Amino acid sequence: MIAESVELGTDVFIPQPQLVNLYGCRIGDGSKIGAFVEIQKGASIGRNCKVSSHSFVCEGVTLEDGVFIGHGVMFTNDLYPRATTDGGALQTEADWQVVETRVKSGASIGSNATILAGVTIGEGAIVGAGAVVTRNVAPYTIVAGAPARAMRRVPVTSQAGVA
Ligand SMILES: CC(C)(COP(=O)(O)OP(=O)(O)OC[C@H]1O[C@@H](n2cnc3c(N)ncnc32)[C@H](O)[C@@H]1OP(=O)(O)O)[C@@H](O)C(=O)NCCC(=O)NCCS
Repeated sequence: MIAESVELGTDVFIPQPQLVNLYGCRIGDGSKIGAFVEIQKGASIGRNCKVSSHSFVCEGVTLEDGVFIGHGVMFTNDLYPRATTDGGALQTEADWQVVETRVKSGASIGSNATILAGVTIGEGAIVGAGAVVTRNVAPYTIVAGAPARAMRRVPVTSQAGVA
């Protein structure tokens, strides 16, 4: 489902619109959204991004232009989540604050990575498959592992067209 509240740019490609869950978000021109993707209200996807199947982009996440999101990538927006208040009632939006996350232009996130709330992933960086990103990632740096650690710089040939 694509809710009416979604701000869709031009030439956004969603091959299976009945198999996505998009609401209150913004999707920039030319971006592609795969099946079984959820993008929550307040999330922002830039131009010419690819969000692969089964990924979750929550409120508070901004993807700048040309960002690649692999399959099953999980963003988070609360470091200390709780179901209930101290009084035992189910929490509502009034009971917690969204922590924002930004993925800068041309960065790529490998499949099954988890991105903890509040980090910035730098321009052209690459996050390895299955990584748990707990700290900011420097531009044009490859990180992997849990917690994700820097492996090396992105080769110059891979930086073409990214900046
Ligand atoms: C992180 C990545 C970019 C690293 O590529 P690379 O620099 O060419 O790394 P190498 O293959 O030379 O491996 C170097 C070391 O890192 C390890 N490594 C590679 N990828 C890893 C990952 N995702 N998590 C943990 N360790 C990883 C390798 O096992 C190797 O360790 P070793 O030296 O002890 O044998 C790549 O492996 C990766 O995960 N890409 C994302 C793929 C993906 O999810 N694509 C999505 C669309 S299909």
